[in-house]
Amino acid sequence: MSEISLRRADPARIDADAVVIGVMRAADGAAALAPGAENIDAALDGRLAETLAQLGATGKAGEHHRIATFGATGAPVILAVGLGDAPRTRRANLDPEQIRRAAGVALRALAGANHVALTLPTSGSQGIRPIAEGALLGAYAYHRYRNASKADHRDPVAAISIVVDDARSAEARKALARAQIVADAVCAVRDLVNTPPSDLHPKEFADFAAKLAEENNLDIEILDERQLKRSGFGGVIGVGQGSVNPPRLVRLEYRHPRAKKTIALIGKGITFDSGGLSLKPTASMDWMKSDMGGAAAVVLATIAIAQLKLRVNVTAWAPLAENMPSGAAQRPSDVLTIYGGKTVEVLNTDAEGRLVLADALVRASEEQPDLLIDAATLTGAQLVALGARTSGVMGNDDRLRSSVVDAAKRAGEQMWPMPLPPELRKSLDSQVADIANIGDSFGGMLVAGTFLQDFVGKQDNGQPIPWAHLDIAGPAFNQGDPYGYTPKGGTGAAVATFVQLAEDLASG
Ligand code: BES
Ligand code: MN
Ligand code: ZN
Repeated sequence: MSEISLRRADPARIDADAVVIGVMRAADGAAALAPGAENIDAALDGRLAETLAQLGATGKAGEHHRIATFGATGAPVILAVGLGDAPRTRRANLDPEQIRRAAGVALRALAGANHVALTLPTSGSQGIRPIAEGALLGAYAYHRYRNASKADHRDPVAAISIVVDDARSAEARKALARAQIVADAVCAVRDLVNTPPSDLHPKEFADFAAKLAEENNLDIEILDERQLKRSGFGGVIGVGQGSVNPPRLVRLEYRHPRAKKTIALIGKGITFDSGGLSLKPTASMDWMKSDMGGAAAVVLATIAIAQLKLRVNVTAWAPLAENMPSGAAQRPSDVLTIYGGKTVEVLNTDAEGRLVLADALVRASEEQPDLLIDAATLTGAQLVALGARTSGVMGNDDRLRSSVVDAAKRAGEQMWPMPLPPELRKSLDSQVADIANIGDSFGGMLVAGTFLQDFVGKQDNGQPIPWAHLDIAGPAFNQGDPYGYTPKGGTGAAVATFVQLAEDLASG
C-alpha cells in the first residue's frame, strides 16, 4: 500500500513529482477549475484554465491532462483530473463519489511516480475520506506474480499527500485513518480474488483468515472436512467432494462490549468454480477464481469493522469449497442434506454457490443474529439484469434492503433493489427432495435468491430473521478496462458497503 498523509502546505510550493488539481464541467459546458487549484493557477499567472482549454480539457469524469510547469511550481508536473459536472449551486458540494473516482483516476495515471500531492475540493474533514479512499484504491496494483522489468509495469505511487487546511485536528486524522482501514480491506479482497486459484484453496483461504484474526485479536473457528461431515454440512461437503482440496467453514467473530445489534455476514467462498460435472464452457471459466469474492468481502469487512471499533457485533461466515469435476464429484440428480436437515436435489452442479450458502445461512441463523446479510458471486443472470457494475440486492425485508442500497450509495458502490417474487418458488420444486437447486431460467438472479430464502431461519417470535442477499457476480471482478479507482480484476466489491452499514447500525 502507498503511504498517505495530510499536509497543510501551499500546493504551488510542494516538492512532489506531481500535484493533482480538479477540473469540473460547468453548466455552460466549459471546464472550470475546482476549489483547491487557486494557488497553482496563481503560480501560473492565472493561465491554468486557458491552458487546460487549449489542451482540450472539458472536466468530464475519467479525463486527465498533464501540464509541465518549467519551475513555476514546486512540482514539475500538474495533473488536472476531471471531476464531472460542477454542483448546480455555488453552495452545494460535489458528490463524494465524484472526488473518489477522480482521485483514483489521478493515482492510476501517475503510477510510477514516487510522491504525489492532491489538492482537490475538501468540504471540512469529512471531505478527506473520499480523496484518501479514491487515491489509495486507485494506486492499487497486483504485481505478485510478475518478473517482467519494472519499465513495463509502473509501481503504485509510494507516497501520497493530501493538501488540507487542517491537517492536525483529531477529526482530520480520524477521517484519514478510517479511509486507510477501508482501503486496506478492499485491497486485501482484491489480492485474494486476484490470487491464482492454485495458490488459494479453501485451506489457504482459511489460514489467511486465521492470520488476520490473530493479528486483530478476533475469535475464529475453522471446521475442516471431517468436522463438516460429522456436523452435517451437506452443501459444503457436496460441492467440495470433487476436489482434492477439501472444504472449510470459517466463523470469524468481532464483539463490542456496548453493541446493541449483531450482524451475521455470509460470503460465498468457491475458490474456483469449474462448474463441476456440469462443466462450464472455457470462456465462462477463466474468471471463476473470483467466485470467493463474497467470502473475502465478509472476512475483510469484519476486520475493518473491528479495526474501527464500531459499536456492533459481527460474525462472518465463509463456507469455502473448490467446485471441481472428478470421479468423486457430486452428480446432477444427487440429493444433499443441508445443515439442519433440509434436502436439495442437485440438478446442476454449477449452481453450487447456493448449496454452500444454504449450510451457512442455517448455521448462522441458529445464533439468532438481528440481521443476516450475504454477499455472493451467485449468478450470471445478475450480469444480464443489471450489467457488470451494479449488484442486485434482494431479501425478505424491504427496510433492510433499502438500508443496504442506501449504504452502498454513500460508500460509492452501485447496488440496486430487486424483488423475490413468491411465484418463483414453485419452479424450484423437486420430484424427490425438499427443493431443487435450479428453477426457472428467466430471472435467474431472483430464482437463486428465492432458493436462499428457504434457508433463512426464524426469530424467537416466529418471524423470519431480516435478511438481505447481495449478488455481486459482475461487480466483484472487473473484466473491462480500469475506471475511476477500480482496477482490472478483483475489485473488493461489497466491503465498503458492509463497513458503511455497520457504521449506520452502530450510530443508529
Ligand atoms: N459462480 C457462478 C456465477 C457467476 C457467473 C459469477 C459469472 C460471476 C460471473 C455460479 O456458480 C454459477 O455458475 N451460476 C449458474 C447458475 C445456473 C446453473 C442456474 C449461472 O449463473 O449460470
Ligand atoms: Mn457455478
Ligand atoms: Zn459459482
